[in-house]
Amino acid sequence: MTIDTAAPAFDRRFRDVLGSFCSGVTVITSMRDGSPVGLTCQSFFSVSIAPPLVAFSIAKTSSTFPLIRMASTCCVNVLAADQEATSRSFGRTGVDKWSGVAWHPSRGEGHPVLDDVLAWLEVRIEVEYDAGDHVLVVAEILDMALEREADPLLFFRGRYAQLAPAPSTPTTPAEEER
Ligand SMILES: Cc1cc2nc3c(=O)[nH]c(=O)nc-3n(C[C@H](O)[C@H](O)[C@H](O)COP(=O)(O)O)c2cc1C
Repeated sequence: MTIDTAAPAFDRRFRDVLGSFCSGVTVITSMRDGSPVGLTCQSFFSVSIAPPLVAFSIAKTSSTFPLIRMASTCCVNVLAADQEATSRSFGRTGVDKWSGVAWHPSRGEGHPVLDDVLAWLEVRIEVEYDAGDHVLVVAEILDMALEREADPLLFFRGRYAQLAPAPSTPTTPAEEER
């Protein structure tokens, strides 16, 4: 059986079901012709340890991603719980996303590391896969660092969310390795 994507309310169901998979939030930044560029991205995940690979999925309508692609390297900034405004700002199109944003160049390629992020990874785009209305981007980690001890910003069912204390179940060794 294949799902009927033309059915009424398919888009709503897609968003509801996929949105129930909670994620963190990143801002992917780069430098293009001396200017910083960036966009908010929740579809970020780790792929491989050896070699160290990550991936993210970008809408073909993005006006910023072609600039990042041209640079071929970029910085994935992992946002903290108090950076919701940053996520909103970098999630808009056709606006000045950088007004009032504090950042410093990464130590390798000089891409923007946003102040107060949890962590960052400098990556080089290795391959892009055509994936419907998105491209799936696989990138190799060139450098990375933890920046701050804080809770992450989460996105769940179309809204920002924060961690709540979990019931104290012990972590298994297998979980700790994930
Ligand atoms: C919380 C959040 C998560 C997002 N995740 C993605 C994503 O995974 N992939 C994507 O292409 N766009 C994602 N977006 C939308 C892009 O950030 C937005 O389309 C982009 O900033 C548009 O600007 P641009 O035209 O400058 O590329 C997300 C937006 C928000 C607010």
